[in-house]
Amino acid sequence: MSENDELIVIRNAALGKVRASSSSADLDAVETEYLGRKGELTLQLRRIGSLAPETRKDFGQAVNDIKNELAEAIEARRSELTAGESEVALAREAVDVTLPGRFYQTGRSHILVETLNKVKNIFIGLGYEMFEAPEVEEYAYNFQALNYPEDHPAIDEQMSFYINDRNLLRTHTTAYQHRVMKGRKPPMRVCTTGKCYRVDAVDATHGHTFHQVDCFTIDKGITMADLKGTMHQFAVEMFGKDVDVRFRPDFFPFVEPGAEVAVTCTICGGSGCNVCKGTGWLELAGAGMIHPNILEGAGIDSEVYTGFAFGFGIERMPMLMHDIGDLRLFMENDLRFLRQF
Ligand code: DAH
Repeated sequence: MSENDELIVIRNAALGKVRASSSSADLDAVETEYLGRKGELTLQLRRIGSLAPETRKDFGQAVNDIKNELAEAIEARRSELTAGESEVALAREAVDVTLPGRFYQTGRSHILVETLNKVKNIFIGLGYEMFEAPEVEEYAYNFQALNYPEDHPAIDEQMSFYINDRNLLRTHTTAYQHRVMKGRKPPMRVCTTGKCYRVDAVDATHGHTFHQVDCFTIDKGITMADLKGTMHQFAVEMFGKDVDVRFRPDFFPFVEPGAEVAVTCTICGGSGCNVCKGTGWLELAGAGMIHPNILEGAGIDSEVYTGFAFGFGIERMPMLMHDIGDLRLFMENDLRFLRQF
């Protein structure tokens, strides 16, 4: 094979590799292999001295032509490849604006918090002030100041969680009443909400921890009619305008007369169903006119001032409105349950 034939073989192989290269890195390798300092074509130029003098010029010319041709081919291929690579990069970054959006899960208030907030907002709207009272309460506020006789069963350790001789976990939010009354002068319109605790075997309708709201009003000339109007207004805002309110006599040591307040069943509208056990009514709250002993105990003249009070459980409302049969669901924090509201 003549020198020139050898050059043709090298040229063809080199151009073949240029065409076959699929990335800039491949191309760099081909470039070094043929055109680098120790590349095949560079080495060919160094052979010139060993050739017959009359062939040197043509041979040198041929090597240089091939080097130029190869360099051009490499550049052409390089621009092809970089165009392709940036297309790939663009495609990777492209956003398809027609795809459906991503669904983000957001948190939400617990159903009991929502119910509490709704109740609070209704009473704030009626002019009540919200008062924060302690959960660890003095025995005296929880019972004595509320006119409980010393032998009342609730006072028994079997019924209430005592911390020590003086303090217990409040058994009802009503315990805040004396705290507020003794430090103020009428008129007063105050509510508190929060957790209460009782020793109770836990089942579908009993818990050791539950929530209550308790409110009272004291002013000159307050009567049972004001209590009825307030309860009616609350029921309408909570359950809707078609709701009716029923009062029946009941007993609580801190009110006289005392009443049990019921509203028309939110499920059947009063015609009778299994939630209201066929009666058409749902018992909602305890209420009454504040006992004169309570007012006098707080330094309020019961000849001049009268007041009403009422209190009720919070869990009962969502249970009635959503027909929830088991109280424990509220505290278990099972998201499948909580996400329904
Ligand atoms: N504290 C009572 C209970 O836990 C409910 C209650 C009844 C509150 C009558 C009141 C009231 O303010 O006047 O069962």
